[in-house]
Amino acid sequence: MPHTIVIFGASGDLTSRKLVPAIYNLMRCGKLPAETRIVGMSRTPLSDEQWRAMLEESTRTFAGESRFDAETWVAFAAGIHYQPGDIEVDADFASLKTRLAEIEGSGTATRVYYLATAPRFYKPAVEALGRHGMAEESRGARRIVVEKPFGTDLATAKQLNACLHSVFHESQVFRIDHYLGKESVQNLMVLRFANTIFEPVWDRRYIDHVQITVAEEVAVGRRGAYYDTAGVLRDMFQNHLLQLLMVTAMEAPAKYRSDTVRNEKVKVLDAIRVLAADEVAEASIRGQYVGYRHEPGVPTDSQTATFGGIRLEINNWRWQGVPFYLRSGKQMSCRTTQIVIGFRQPPLQLFSGGIPVHGEGNRLVIQIQPAEGIQLHFHTKVPGAGMRLRMTDLDFSYSEQFRDRLPEAYEPLLLDVMQGDASLFARADEVEKSWQIIDPFVDAWRDPAAPRIDLYEPGEWGPASSNRWMEAQGRSWFDICPVLS
Ligand code: BG6
Repeated sequence: MPHTIVIFGASGDLTSRKLVPAIYNLMRCGKLPAETRIVGMSRTPLSDEQWRAMLEESTRTFAGESRFDAETWVAFAAGIHYQPGDIEVDADFASLKTRLAEIEGSGTATRVYYLATAPRFYKPAVEALGRHGMAEESRGARRIVVEKPFGTDLATAKQLNACLHSVFHESQVFRIDHYLGKESVQNLMVLRFANTIFEPVWDRRYIDHVQITVAEEVAVGRRGAYYDTAGVLRDMFQNHLLQLLMVTAMEAPAKYRSDTVRNEKVKVLDAIRVLAADEVAEASIRGQYVGYRHEPGVPTDSQTATFGGIRLEINNWRWQGVPFYLRSGKQMSCRTTQIVIGFRQPPLQLFSGGIPVHGEGNRLVIQIQPAEGIQLHFHTKVPGAGMRLRMTDLDFSYSEQFRDRLPEAYEPLLLDVMQGDASLFARADEVEKSWQIIDPFVDAWRDPAAPRIDLYEPGEWGPASSNRWMEAQGRSWFDICPVLS
């Protein structure tokens, strides 16, 4: 079955940096279904040839010069088309419809509409697709991919879902979170559910706490105007961090199918206690990097958090009493995303040498990026006289085990959309429940009566108060820059 990927927002950054390079790489690796076409629409007046030339240059950069192959590009470019138009102009949509009919001919085709536009165009685009009967599936499947943000709070997420559902069935909607396309996030499910050694200790009896950190070295840069309205909670927590939490904490589904996987993920969200406004201060910490207020588009008195740490409780049999610490920030000391499973201390400390009173328990570090892998931390006897102990580690590194290039997150996800597999996409209820959990933090942090935000110097692990907050709970952040390289 031929496929047509219709990209709204064709001249934007997402299209040139991520989407087209990902589709190109799929073709280069022989994974792209035969007869896949790309049709781009945006307001910029461009011909097919001009758009192809622009994409050739960006794909060369973003797919990687070494992976770019002129011959493959020629074959790939033949399937690229451009239709200038404004999502808000009905006649432009009619022209898009006619153009798609010309390109697809009389046969059937699976069509994927990709909303790579600014979020304010989501609603007009969905409504226009509805008005022109373009979600209707008599000539092949019709699917729509929605990029984050899925609303900015529970109320707007509900509105967006209602708008999508007025035209598409939920089974046609693919809410993309690129973190779920990362190889090591998917491997976390394999680690947990294809092995027996981890599952028996994966609960409150053996685990003291879980830390999920997404640290970024980059600053806000050109995205200041957007970022200042979002802050780290909306930008990273509602989506990426909660997704990582769900995959870490979910039960094994009975089958690996999109509905069963997503049911288990939603059950985790259901079990998370939604905090009352007066509980947020004690359960969270926020900060802003020095210099943020001078970024273009950011007010000079901004109180927006560029760093956040929150503690969540999952009230179910597996996790009751095990705090989940989620932390993310810009301009931190390094780029690393890791899930740290902190195991309990043994009940008896037989060997006192080398273990501090509040000693470290075993740890399993699942490193999502930059390098993908797993590290297990355990105590070992230091050779020589006496029982001196030291924490040592066992490494599994993806790049050492698998020499092939790991695909970029968008590659498997785009392929999943084409094949209609929604396992790694957020469902409507998942998104709404995520906002329900994050909204109280957003509201409390934005409250004008909240204390002034703590600052941190670029290159630190957030404000000093973040460490004090953890220490007050008898724990410490695992602040080691990528454990694997
Ligand atoms: C995006 C956020 O969703 O994820 C960005 O909007 C952030 O602010 C990015 O930088 C991080 O993604 P990755 O894959 O680089 O960790």
